[in-house]
Amino acid sequence: MLNHIIDLELLSFSDLQEIIQLAGKIMKNPKKYSEACKGKILATLFYEPSTRTQMSFQTAMLRLGGSVIGFDDPMNSSVAKGESLKDTIKIMSGYADIIAMRHPLEGSAKGASLYSSVPVINAGDGGHLHPTQTLTDVVTLHNEKGRLNHLNIGLCGDLKNGRTVHSLIKTMSHFEGNKFILISTPELGVPKYIKDIMDEQGCEYVEIPTLQEAMPLLDVLYMTRIQRERFASEEEYLAQKGVFVLDAQKLSLGKESLKVLHPLPRVDEIDVEVDDDPRCVYFKQAVYGMYARMALILLTLEGAKYSYAKGKVIIDETGCPNPKCITHTEGYMPKEFRKKGNVLICEYCDFQKEL
Ligand code: NCD
Repeated sequence: MLNHIIDLELLSFSDLQEIIQLAGKIMKNPKKYSEACKGKILATLFYEPSTRTQMSFQTAMLRLGGSVIGFDDPMNSSVAKGESLKDTIKIMSGYADIIAMRHPLEGSAKGASLYSSVPVINAGDGGHLHPTQTLTDVVTLHNEKGRLNHLNIGLCGDLKNGRTVHSLIKTMSHFEGNKFILISTPELGVPKYIKDIMDEQGCEYVEIPTLQEAMPLLDVLYMTRIQRERFASEEEYLAQKGVFVLDAQKLSLGKESLKVLHPLPRVDEIDVEVDDDPRCVYFKQAVYGMYARMALILLTLEGAKYSYAKGKVIIDETGCPNPKCITHTEGYMPKEFRKKGNVLICEYCDFQKEL
């Protein structure tokens, strides 16, 4: 089985520790690693806009002595001529040693991995997951908070469409004593499958409607932008925009030891007036992300295995009801599900359908 990074859920605790430790070592002595990936090629296939993720993957590979190819606008590739994801991936995996892919459809990274002969790293699949942002976040928390457990973690903004939030909850719910404080409008709350994960892990969570009420409770505040591109209409987006804004007055309600993270880009949810507050670490977080990705690329190319079977897979030809699932546009992908109780869970996008 290949070492694709589709969902951090598939990494063991010691895998995660290894990545965090290696990121720390590279940070301390970057020179030692400056030729570690010499002769290797990373392909960055970005079907959706990106600043940090794409550039940090690219600089990560360049700082390891490797090279980079790819596109940041699929319309400059044969995708514009109607090439399928399968064909693009088959070709790219013949050219590159490792692929980082971002795509607007949920489950696209899993779909791509089926056709790749080299490791595929999920750099964001629609509103579903963003595992390397979570690596960035855990490396940030490890360095800035000194621990990954016993944290009150506030998550604020678009918890429905924010893939970084989904990945972060999935990973942090495994650590003892973490509690989530969910701050969103009722329309933008976390999806059911994420609540199920917290319940299964026995991880406490509360929903609090305002930042003011939540602030004094938090060790970590994870702000997110409202994901405009995932709304069905501009009207629906405008109704949600600007509801939660962290400003100096609200930050003053937070603990001295609070750390404020944001995957970025920011729109208007954090006022620039708080940027220089030492508790705001979102710009540092982006730098930690580069080291996290250096560690991940290096370990993956060295042959670390991160894919473990999630369980028995069954085929259900009626397909996935989620219209944003990759299996609809790329109809040749096998309609795989895992059965859990009386639901079938889509192998690609995790959407649950009743049996
Ligand atoms: C995030 C993403 O793409 O999901 N950005 C990032 O990768 N740092 C967050 C966002 O776009 O809001």
